[in-house]
Amino acid sequence: MEMKRNPTKLLLWLMFLSDTVPFTYEEKSMREQAIKLMQDTRLIDGHNDFVLRLRIFYQNRLSKVNLREINKTHTNLAKLEAGYVGAQFWSVYVLCSAQNKDAVRLTLEQIDIVKRMCNSYEELELVTTSQGISDSKKIACLIGIEGGHSIDSSLATLRMYYDLGVRYMTLTHSCNTPWSESSSKGIHNFYPSVTGLTAFGQEVVKEMNRLGMLIDLSHTSYSTAKAALHISKAPVIFSHSAAFSVCNHSRNVPDDILQQLKRNRGIIMVTFNADVLACGRKVVNISTLADHFDYIKKIAGPESIGIGGDYDGVERFPEGLEDVSKYPSLIEELLRRGWNEIELKAVLRENFLRVFREVEKVRNSSGLMDVGESEILHKEVQNSCRLDLHNYRIETISSFGFSSVAQSFSLTLVIVPYLILYYES
Ligand SMILES: *[C@@H]1O[C@H](CO)[C@@H](O)[C@H](O)[C@H]1NC(C)=O
Ligand SMILES: *[C@@H]1O[C@H](CO)[C@@H](O)[C@H](O)[C@H]1NC(C)=O
Ligand SMILES: *[C@@H]1O[C@H](CO)[C@@H](O)[C@H](O)[C@H]1NC(C)=O
Ligand SMILES: *[C@@H]1O[C@H](CO)[C@@H](O)[C@H](O)[C@H]1NC(C)=O
Ligand SMILES: [Zn+2]
Repeated sequence: MEMKRNPTKLLLWLMFLSDTVPFTYEEKSMREQAIKLMQDTRLIDGHNDFVLRLRIFYQNRLSKVNLREINKTHTNLAKLEAGYVGAQFWSVYVLCSAQNKDAVRLTLEQIDIVKRMCNSYEELELVTTSQGISDSKKIACLIGIEGGHSIDSSLATLRMYYDLGVRYMTLTHSCNTPWSESSSKGIHNFYPSVTGLTAFGQEVVKEMNRLGMLIDLSHTSYSTAKAALHISKAPVIFSHSAAFSVCNHSRNVPDDILQQLKRNRGIIMVTFNADVLACGRKVVNISTLADHFDYIKKIAGPESIGIGGDYDGVERFPEGLEDVSKYPSLIEELLRRGWNEIELKAVLRENFLRVFREVEKVRNSSGLMDVGESEILHKEVQNSCRLDLHNYRIETISSFGFSSVAQSFSLTLVIVPYLILYYES
């Protein structure tokens, strides 16, 4: 009442309002806008290592843990809901040190844990198609293999993983395989002379196209990535990488490959891994991550970008992005930097769905392509645990022939004297 009668006070009030209220209103609206956007367009995240934590902490005993509220991981179901995650690629990663040992068994066990997890919580649902993601009202679960060592250089093993629901494979982790070169040097000493994709590696890429399995190039060397981009008939992904020009980590993607990716219509799903984003700088926050988004948008356009947090895969994440509930903070920051809603919907979801549909279309149109029957050469694998069965029939027939003769002969030598002794006594 008093204000109405006092023009000076009213003026002061108006000045106060124009100075402060629009600012806080804008802040609030950015957050609200980000949330609204994510409610309408739920995130498809390209990479999460949570199930490796389930193996390490609980030996995959799901009965021992409540996934709704587990606290020692970056991921739980409540946090996924809070982060507006609509679909998650669960990585069924097994360590490079399992290469040529029990990598296939370990991979199968990780696929098993994803299936059990997604079948036993009503918040989750296992899907294997782009339509499945679109239709799901839950958090859609997808399976990705991280590292070509999981197929033990076998196209048949690759096909069986597809049958089990696997929809992407990262061609390498931090070790070379007999057919593909990794970006990591000096961590493992497997196959040091392999560069890029070998002839068998090219067959793996073609078979993935034929099957409709996404080709993931995170962790691969530049020559592997370039070769795969050159060969693939379908768009490819980097499921968790960032821009080399912003942080020159060997895991990140240089400009020429980003441009090649744009021409391929593929996407780079940007990782939140602090070390890869910031190259050892002390302060790593949402701005650091947003710089990678801005840069990649400049080089390859917003149609080439997605999100692949890599939660539970590494220890350190940017301040403000500590777990899977924090995705809205990134979207808020990108809104503040002038990204529009169409671009952000593409980054959150639409770009990945486009890539997945195109991969499925290549599969659908490749019906007449022959199933890959290439085998890797024994000398390229050099693994003494691997049986060479190419001459199996010939060897067994001859050894069977020999041993049965030998056996009957020795049996005669033992039994006849025994019978003689028996009847004589
Ligand atoms: C997780 O943390 C919350 C809050 O700190 C606590 O209330 C809850 O009991 C914890 N849950 C588990 C499974 O440890
Ligand atoms: C990154 O840049 C630093 C500083 O210029 C340099 O010392 C380092 O060798 C570079 N690393 C790579 C992988 O290019
Ligand atoms: C991130 O840290 C930098 C350097 O300290 C600072 O200038 C910037 O405002 C921070 N960004 C956020 C979103 O906190
Ligand atoms: C591929 O073929 C399947 C089975 O016929 C069909 O359901 C699906 O819509 C097709 N996908 C694309 C992207 O054409
Ligand atoms: Zn990784």
